[in-house]
Amino acid sequence: MWFMEDRQSQLDFTTHMANLNNTASDNQPSNLVAVNAIMSNNPPPPLDDRLYELKPAAAAVFRSQTGIDDDDVLKKHILVVQAKAYKIFPYPCIRIFSFLRCVTTYSVDTAGALTAGDRLGVMNAPAYEQALKLGRERKDAVWLDIGCCFGADVRKAAFDGFPAASIVATDLHPGYWDLGHELFKSTPETFPAHFIAGDALDPSILSVAPPALAKPDSPHPQLSSLTSLNPLHGHVSTIYAGAFFHIFDEAQQLHLAQALAGLLSPEPGSVIFGAHLGLPEGKGILTQTSAYSTDLHIFCHSSDSWEALWDGEVFEKGSVKVSTNMKQYKDLPDSPWVLVWSVERL
Ligand SMILES: C[S@@+](CC[C@H](N)C(=O)[O-])C[C@H]1O[C@@H](n2cnc3c(N)ncnc32)[C@H](O)[C@@H]1O
Repeated sequence: MWFMEDRQSQLDFTTHMANLNNTASDNQPSNLVAVNAIMSNNPPPPLDDRLYELKPAAAAVFRSQTGIDDDDVLKKHILVVQAKAYKIFPYPCIRIFSFLRCVTTYSVDTAGALTAGDRLGVMNAPAYEQALKLGRERKDAVWLDIGCCFGADVRKAAFDGFPAASIVATDLHPGYWDLGHELFKSTPETFPAHFIAGDALDPSILSVAPPALAKPDSPHPQLSSLTSLNPLHGHVSTIYAGAFFHIFDEAQQLHLAQALAGLLSPEPGSVIFGAHLGLPEGKGILTQTSAYSTDLHIFCHSSDSWEALWDGEVFEKGSVKVSTNMKQYKDLPDSPWVLVWSVERL
């Protein structure tokens, strides 16, 4: 485990991997099997602060939330938290500082390529604006961030006006959410978004229910006491899934899409959106060895297959508007294709 700084970390990591193996072998349809196989065979690369880049829109959020104005001090603070997060589980997105880009929109340059610029969270501009509008105009609007990691995206949403107490965030690793408080120098009191720890593939955390056709009879759940996403069936106005779906295989991606669809409010304008690695055509496994991660074996959709999945398979055909934008991310190693997408209820 050459990327670990000290022996205790190496031991922790070995135990961690063994635990993941045990979890994965309990017949759970867990993505951890694949991830773990990758990590144990190919140790992840060490952190590299040359990948650090804080663009103006993100810097504004970080400065305002942390109270740190000095760029060098802010960088040092962010690197400390990044290193702690990489020890929890070394996701490539942590190494490449995805969380620093999780605040605004992808910008598309004149050649049509994505720039990591002020992407800050894969926020697909029209869907993001729609989500904020729901927060302003809809009574009981709820924003769910699935696979939230530090919660950088919901920090940005709150910064832009979505009520923090109406935000629910969830992740397999609760340590990331705790580190989010450290990263943004907040507490559950100063940033009252509610966090639920759990495996999104575990039905006790998120079960599949058919898309709601009418507003649920059940009263609006009290977010702060939730331990599962299931009471939110039919209640969520905005679901954000950043760099989330590509962790899972094809069947799991369909399962998760169906599960998220069941959470979405039936009111027109309710939206699920996000971005993740894709393929320009067809669908299939992307195998990649890149400078910023280990060997990756990722199931990817194209715009066409992703649209077909949501409009016709997950939702009844014609009941949603699916928007997709497949762009090449030219300023990252290997220039991956990224699918930026949204699904809005009509
Ligand atoms: C690639 S990171 C993306 C983080 C963030 N959304 C972003 O856009 O930068 C994927 C996140 O999904 C979480 N995750 C992985 N498997 C999960 C599962 N089965 N259930 C819930 N969260 C999971 C990871 O812990 C990690 O925080």
